[in-house]
Amino acid sequence: MQIYHANIIYTPQSRRFEVVPDGYIAVCDGKVEGVYRDLPDHLSGVPVTDFGNRLLIPAMNDMHVHAPQYRNQGIAMDEELLPWLKNYVFPEEQKYADMTYAERMYPRFVRDLWRHGTMRVVTFASVHLESTRLLMHLLDDAGLCARVGKVNMNRDCPPGLQETVVEAQEACGALVDEFEHEGSRVRPIVTPRFIPSCTPEMLQACGEMARHYNLPVQTHLSENLEEIELVKQLEPQSRHYADAYYRYGLIGQTPSVMAHCVWTDGDELEMLRNHSVMVAHCPTSNLNVASGLAPVRRFLEAGVPVGLGSDICGGHDFSIFRMMVYAIQVSKMHYQRDKSCSFLTLSEAFWMATKSAGSFFGKVGSFEPGYDFDALVIDDSELMIDTDYTLPERLERFVYIGDDRHIVGRYCQGRLVGEP
Ligand code: GUN
Ligand code: FE
Repeated sequence: MQIYHANIIYTPQSRRFEVVPDGYIAVCDGKVEGVYRDLPDHLSGVPVTDFGNRLLIPAMNDMHVHAPQYRNQGIAMDEELLPWLKNYVFPEEQKYADMTYAERMYPRFVRDLWRHGTMRVVTFASVHLESTRLLMHLLDDAGLCARVGKVNMNRDCPPGLQETVVEAQEACGALVDEFEHEGSRVRPIVTPRFIPSCTPEMLQACGEMARHYNLPVQTHLSENLEEIELVKQLEPQSRHYADAYYRYGLIGQTPSVMAHCVWTDGDELEMLRNHSVMVAHCPTSNLNVASGLAPVRRFLEAGVPVGLGSDICGGHDFSIFRMMVYAIQVSKMHYQRDKSCSFLTLSEAFWMATKSAGSFFGKVGSFEPGYDFDALVIDDSELMIDTDYTLPERLERFVYIGDDRHIVGRYCQGRLVGEP
């Protein structure tokens, strides 16, 4: 048992912050035992780590990112999705056939997640098995929790990024044997890149792998209008893009997370709701790749779970705090077009990044009893230029104008996570 003392802020529900000034969190076997305003008798004698006037908040979850696009962070902003993939993304991902290159890049990628307070991640790797294994070991060695997808793709991309269905199946089996164990921090996830990159046989095989190994699925959905038009041509028998995934067993069999969903509405939205599919909202990516404004309020109204994703390198910023700001700003642009779609509040964005996203991993992202103690210690003293900020205001200033320099402690599953 361990007790932490600080100003505690979290979001058990989306609409408001739970704020416990000068409070205590008791943690037992990596899980929250309780949050207290005053230390109760039954905890007297338990060691207390005192963070003083700092903020203690749930850690960040990045629900969609591409590890092998790390080198392209902050460049290649001049195309929409399909030419952008062809001209910039595929040439970069091909380099991960070379382990020397992966060994140079992946440790930095993992360090950047850590630096920005992201303790859990659902990430794409590339199509290559060996460099995917390296990434998984690096995440595990760093003490982070992750679902890592060796990408499956076999059409409409350079030969160096194509695999056969049998190769995809063998690689998946190898990753399951090595990583998919009770208690593993880093595990595989079935990852067909998106419909245009996969033949029907590959998509079918991905659905079968998900069922056979009981693995979750991640992919991209309804990001860009040209892409959606292409999917209509490739899958004429499907009612919509999500229906194509459903028909291949990539929605509905096991939990899945769909990145973007910028153009998802009507029947497609209903399908996500019926199968509890999580949307990974990636506002910076949608802005950079000029995809559009995702109707996140509609997702929340429909009861579709939403998390936030950095989508490096479609997105340019690792910080999930910054992703909250962009999500709110994008929702305000959306609101100006459709006043029935109210814009997001900070507590809603914070909840999406913590408790809502965390549900993909289990009881993660809150400080309610039984939740994994994934937490960040924030030293915002530099940002307190006046004496009368409330605690929610201190958090808001950190989210809007703070950065990784203000994150002074990181915990994942109750363990202090040092710099990798
Ligand atoms: N759709 C298919 N592949 C990708 C990718 O790498 N990034 C984004 N943003 N969308 C995709
Ligand atoms: Fe993506």
